[in-house]
Amino acid sequence: QQLKIRSQPHSFASCKNCGENIKKALEVYSEPWTRQDYNYEKLRLDLKANVNGFDTAIISQMNTPVGSQLVYDGERKRTFVVDPKVFNLFTKGHPFSNKRWDTCSVVGNGGILGNSSCGKMIDSAEFVIRCNLPPLSDGYEKHVGTKTDLVTANPTILINKFESLVGRRRPLMEKLSNYGNSMLVLPAFSFGMNTAVCMRTFYAIQDFQDAIQPVIINPEYIYKLFLFWRSRGLKEARLSTGVIMASLALELCDNVHLYGFWPFSVHPYNFRNLTQHYYDDMKPNGNFHSMPSEFNMLLQLHKQGVLRLHLGECE
Ligand code: CTP
Repeated sequence: QQLKIRSQPHSFASCKNCGENIKKALEVYSEPWTRQDYNYEKLRLDLKANVNGFDTAIISQMNTPVGSQLVYDGERKRTFVVDPKVFNLFTKGHPFSNKRWDTCSVVGNGGILGNSSCGKMIDSAEFVIRCNLPPLSDGYEKHVGTKTDLVTANPTILINKFESLVGRRRPLMEKLSNYGNSMLVLPAFSFGMNTAVCMRTFYAIQDFQDAIQPVIINPEYIYKLFLFWRSRGLKEARLSTGVIMASLALELCDNVHLYGFWPFSVHPYNFRNLTQHYYDDMKPNGNFHSMPSEFNMLLQLHKQGVLRLHLGECE
């Protein structure tokens, strides 16, 4: 799947400061990719030893009994003591314990995926992870696929697009029907403002008997992961959802493929201007993430044969 690289970029006039990043990425990406078992196993074991997503990424009734004190990963001074009502919403066992998939696709939402024709390749993975309730119909299928085993929901979307679920709930249910019976990962304990809206999402899914399976990501997992990548040189306020999901996939899957990760505004091959997302041009809110630094970290993992980034067209 390695693509032929054009010898010279046309011009990066429309992309201030991204010329160097693109050049660096293409230099690495143009090398034939080979999986490096040793590097992959080493990182997987380090992740297991330090963050252990296998057993702790999701809050379960096993790992978080009534009375446990949760510390919000985005507001470390805020805590939540688990009461029986909230405990009942937790999944019984941990969904990943003893699970291992051969191939996983982790789909970021970058504009680079538009017109990529990567849908079939993404869907060919045994386990497909998507971020922030992305659109999968209206012509996007060809480029992003439709298979979904795990999808995250960003509370900002629940608040802005679905009226915080204090009004009609059917529009959210219609949206969720796109993801079948996949796992819906909610960051209920990342920030205080997330908790109530995530709880309402749980209740709506139960009341409408929707097939999707809501679970809560463990704030301790996110925090440990943040420390893990920081100790390896990634300096940013918060990890992006895409990097959290890629890290989880590295523990759960033997072969990790990333699509839609390209935080630059120019396409690396045809140099057309790119939108922020494959479906809109909404810029990130605030300076939480440093996606270019994250991308460089992912690029290094690609170079080390630990995971495989896909930047070109797939057909
Ligand atoms: N992403 C990327 N390049 C882009 C857009 C997104 O690499 N141009 C990756 C990021 O890792 C991001 C993920 O795809 O987390 C999902 O994208 P998006 O929904 O835009 O995430 P955000 O809303 O920006 O932020 P958050 O990570 O906080 O959910």
